[in-house]
Amino acid sequence: MCPECGELGDGLDGHYSDWRQSRLCSFWPGAPGWWRAWPLLRLEAGADGRYTMSDSQAEPLVKIRGLRFSRGEKRIFDGVDIDIQRHRVTAIMGPSGTGKTTLLKLIGGQLQPEAGTVIVDGKDIHALPLDALYKLRIRMGMMFQSGALLTDIDVFENVAYPLREHTSLSEEMIRKLVLLKLEAVGLRGARDLMPSELSGGMARRVALARAVALDPMMIMYDEPFTGQDPISMGVLVELIRELNDASRLTSIIVSHDVQETAEIADHIYVISQGKVIEHGTPEELMDSQSAWVKQFMHGLPDGPVRFHYPAPDLAQDFFRHSTGGRP
Ligand SMILES: Nc1ncnc2c1ncn2[C@@H]1O[C@H](COP(=O)(O)OP(=O)(O)OP(=O)(O)O)[C@@H](O)[C@H]1O
Ligand SMILES: [Mg+2]
Repeated sequence: MCPECGELGDGLDGHYSDWRQSRLCSFWPGAPGWWRAWPLLRLEAGADGRYTMSDSQAEPLVKIRGLRFSRGEKRIFDGVDIDIQRHRVTAIMGPSGTGKTTLLKLIGGQLQPEAGTVIVDGKDIHALPLDALYKLRIRMGMMFQSGALLTDIDVFENVAYPLREHTSLSEEMIRKLVLLKLEAVGLRGARDLMPSELSGGMARRVALARAVALDPMMIMYDEPFTGQDPISMGVLVELIRELNDASRLTSIIVSHDVQETAEIADHIYVISQGKVIEHGTPEELMDSQSAWVKQFMHGLPDGPVRFHYPAPDLAQDFFRHSTGGRP
């Protein structure tokens, strides 16, 4: 809690909740310039017992190192390193089935890797006790691949849901917050509609309002553009960028929609067959010399990317004797 203004906070808005983190409210009116910059600087004890300043905010918000994960026999990730920089939009791209949704589940701690670490805001997500993991997840917004609105409650209640679940705010405060979030996605007027009455694009925007309801430090978007018409896509592209920049969020987008993703991403990782094939700015990847990246980024039908899921030879498969059950 800030000693001057008494504010509690998560550190993102300049107020800090915990003195033991050596941080102080940057809104403290009497603070000199360097003191106001305190949220960006922390004192850290060195091996010699001396304290030095370190720029903890310069560290990536998510740091993935040596990640390995399999589903049955199938190796999904085989030594993946990814840095998600704070306040940036980072895209993870790759063909369908490469493991993009799986990666988000690993970042959110829903899946356990075989090897490697996922550090989120300085915490090893897979080593956290459950209550600490739940607390951290409250600060991680997620927009699911399907939108996943609750179908039995209206738009207002869908956005209010995380606020009711995770806070003890008054009804009046919840109402104001929900209206603000719906206003941000242009759907304040649709608050009484049921999910079945929404178009696909509107449903995505409601899901987006719900994902940011708790003012998370980061938000993960799973295929936000799939199935949208060009206008809805354009609206979503703008919204994601604006929300990221205006709220100083950190955004992770997993997608195979190259054009839209390249339009908003600051940095793109391309993954395939368990590895990061290449990463860089959208421009760097568009100019890549790698045949694989070229095929993917420019949507070329011919190239090294396989169209078929691995299978035995068709002729062998065709004439193989059935041994009961499904051939
Ligand atoms: N619950 C599960 N059990 C077993 N295998 C799974 C499960 N979920 C996903 N897989 C497999 O893991 C691989 C990666 O799946 P994932 O859903 O992460 O891919 P994706 O890149 O998100 O694909 P898409 O672009 O189609 O959404 C796929 O081969 C898939 O068949
Ligand atoms: Mg997916």
